[in-house]
Amino acid sequence: MNILILGSGGREHSLAWAVMQNPKCDRLIVAPGNAGIAQIADCAALDIENGGAVVSFAEENAIDFVIIGPEAPLAAGVADRLREAGILVFGPSAEAARLEASKSFTKEICDAAGAPTAAYARFTEAEPAKAYIRQQGAPIVVKADGLAAGKGVIVAMDEATALEAVDDMFGGAFGGAGAEVVIEEFMDGEEASLFVLCDGESILSVGTAQDHKRVGEGDTGLNTGGMGAYSPAPVLSPEVEARAMDEIVRPTMAEMARRGTPFQGVLYAGLMIKDGQPRLVEYNVRFGDPECQVLMMRLGAQALDLMHAAAEGRLGEARVNWADDHALTVVMAAQGYPGAYEKGSVINGMDDLPEDGNHMVFHAGTKAQDGLIVAAGGRVLNVTARGATLHEARDNAYAMVEAIDWPGGFYRRDIGWRAL
Ligand code: AMP
Ligand code: GLY
Repeated sequence: MNILILGSGGREHSLAWAVMQNPKCDRLIVAPGNAGIAQIADCAALDIENGGAVVSFAEENAIDFVIIGPEAPLAAGVADRLREAGILVFGPSAEAARLEASKSFTKEICDAAGAPTAAYARFTEAEPAKAYIRQQGAPIVVKADGLAAGKGVIVAMDEATALEAVDDMFGGAFGGAGAEVVIEEFMDGEEASLFVLCDGESILSVGTAQDHKRVGEGDTGLNTGGMGAYSPAPVLSPEVEARAMDEIVRPTMAEMARRGTPFQGVLYAGLMIKDGQPRLVEYNVRFGDPECQVLMMRLGAQALDLMHAAAEGRLGEARVNWADDHALTVVMAAQGYPGAYEKGSVINGMDDLPEDGNHMVFHAGTKAQDGLIVAAGGRVLNVTARGATLHEARDNAYAMVEAIDWPGGFYRRDIGWRAL
């Protein structure tokens, strides 16, 4: 099989790494890829949000199967264009991708599916939104409806912060994404994520994970795209996972099919768990980044078979071969992230690190320059390891982190603390 993966982050590096281990993969191209991906696969420049360009590229390169990593091409309908052209693709249609692209759409589906989630109201003007906040009181959560690169959510612990968030959103702080605002009940509990493949009809869990969104140790400081993650998530016990499947994921997928917009791809359910009851925080229509890195390390080569089965509508017969293992990833980021940071600092010490089924440095934002690897983004490396216990996975990951010589970077030393 000739395979094309779209994307350029640590998520796509881990997808490429898993796919390359599967003998069914004859050739792998990642577009646009990054310096780490270029060490294991071919990379190609391509405008991945342009469906026509992706179809032409796939046809020219005799691609049999396309895996779409990030949400933007999905929301732009790239999976639809590929399907219309008769090219097999893993990833939902633009209609189904609304589960991530519109928070009010997700709420509407949850209502129809009876899935437990936060109580909410939607607004297109500031004054009624503010009146609602004053009536409900804090803590309360204010969300821009559309895609805002993970920044459109304000968890307001006091009323003034919530009111200010409403002004910011309607004032255009998130562009078109903030034309509609969803105001939600604050949910208390422990957060974890469940990843489920779906072929439009059948669903299959491919693992659970928890990430650390805050930049600082002890989960303090500014929000980021994620500073580390581990799998499995202990809070998602088999009982809680079964409840999330039965009460949230299955009814959502059934409702999408009933509407004539079945979901095919990976559904990432962000859950808040309290007293054994999961409630939906949000859906994403792609693998999490960096959660994908720990899932791929645990799944290995079978990840390709599972995604392929989802794309071909054969998930009903697919099974995951679980090892009783744990994986953990530590994000190394450029000094200053998530604020302003410098690009171009040199990263040393990676050549001697082990690279096998239990150890891998996935590249998130790197560039090759004069034979050196330099930082080219905010989140730069995802240092990932596996172990028989979470403890062992953590120790393995941090041993690699410590061997990396990168004065321009930093990392959190406490990834996994909640579970350990
Ligand atoms: P989202 O972009 O929807 O993932 O929201 C970002 C983060 O805000 C989530 O991961 C939660 O930590 C938090 N959050 C979102 N909605 C709620 C809610 N209703 N109650 C509590 N926390 C929330
Ligand atoms: N790590 C969070 C996300 O991918 O949205």
